[in-house]
Amino acid sequence: MTQLASIASTPATRAAPYDLEGLRAQFPILGLRIGDAPLAYLDNGASSQMPQPVIDRLVHYQRAEHANIHRGVHYLSETATAAFEGARRKVQRFLNAAEECEIIFTRGTTDALNLVMHGFGRAYIGEGDEIIVSTLEHHSNIVPWQMLCQERGCHLRVIPCNDRGELLLEAYAELLGPRTRLVAITHVSNALGSISPLREVIDLAHARGVPVLVDGAQAVAHIPVDVQALDCDFYCFSGHKLYGPTGIGVLYGKAALLEKMQPYQGGGDMILSVSFEKTIYNVIPHKFEAGTPPIAAAIGLGAAIDFVTGVGIERAADWEATLLDYATEQLSQLPGVRLVGTAQHKASVLSFVLAGVHPHDVGTVLNEAGVAVRTGHHCAQPVMQRFGLPATVRASFALYNRLDEVDQLVGGLQRVARLFA
Ligand code: ALA
Repeated sequence: MTQLASIASTPATRAAPYDLEGLRAQFPILGLRIGDAPLAYLDNGASSQMPQPVIDRLVHYQRAEHANIHRGVHYLSETATAAFEGARRKVQRFLNAAEECEIIFTRGTTDALNLVMHGFGRAYIGEGDEIIVSTLEHHSNIVPWQMLCQERGCHLRVIPCNDRGELLLEAYAELLGPRTRLVAITHVSNALGSISPLREVIDLAHARGVPVLVDGAQAVAHIPVDVQALDCDFYCFSGHKLYGPTGIGVLYGKAALLEKMQPYQGGGDMILSVSFEKTIYNVIPHKFEAGTPPIAAAIGLGAAIDFVTGVGIERAADWEATLLDYATEQLSQLPGVRLVGTAQHKASVLSFVLAGVHPHDVGTVLNEAGVAVRTGHHCAQPVMQRFGLPATVRASFALYNRLDEVDQLVGGLQRVARLFA
């Protein structure tokens, strides 16, 4: 046995605050085997898996409820409309938004961010103005703003982070100025797992009357979110990172802001009346939902919210913190492993590199051991540049992961070390 092989031993004393095996049984895909190995799915930051109740809800909708919404007086159209709008109410409760009309269904986080760039940015950010983002953003919360800068002559300002991957609030306070028009910041870094100090970020921005958009793609499945308590102006997330389907996401916006914004796309459903002389737009949220939306996916997202609130985000967060602590402990002991992102406040993500082995090679060998991780720049190249790396290996946890899957990861890394010794 190598020195590495003796490291991993699942601690019997740490247990999930819910019936983990019963919960896992609700995720059929977790029973897969990859070759000879059981699947250890540690790529939840990219997309989480879907439990049977969500799958069942999608099937039921397709078998017994499907029709277009907001457009028919027949039974199926009314049923589908009720289910779709019911899903909106579930999102409203999940985020504790004050009003249902503050919840806009989008195709995902990226779509939501582009909506704000188009509807808010193009209307209220002009030449010489500034948008503050952070070093920790993924490309979806950088590129739309760069497009706006190119188009309007405004400028991006970037909050730096320290070597642990924590944002520097003093530097942020200095960036806020008379030309700042928006702060667009991630809640949790997808590449490092750092949790942004949103309270301070929002309070400082609001003290200057600057609205704050929070990208919650990596947060909603791991941290309870209350948009009224946060007092953020926009918050967005994707369904498929919350145990729901792809193709659906949410933009929350304060009603007063959404009312003032221009629609993102033109088409059916976003209008009250159309003539060749003049179109009158629909009320929010419909003003921002042109065309037939992803009805099934929205209803599936509603079911995913029921599922995750049934488990309890706080309890999930507790368990994921245990998984993260255990994985951090174990990987820290592996020779050649460098953890990337060691912030004091982290959620569910462990990024690392192994000396002398490219992350893609690590990922390939881990796959042979049944372990699914993401390798690469994680669509967050500025984070990689900050740490002087082209790529990392990223293990990201969800409420259904087990400690022995961390052991499986460690076992896979031992194999990498042997192969590349
Ligand atoms: N943004 C997703 C990730 O972090 C795709 O993997």
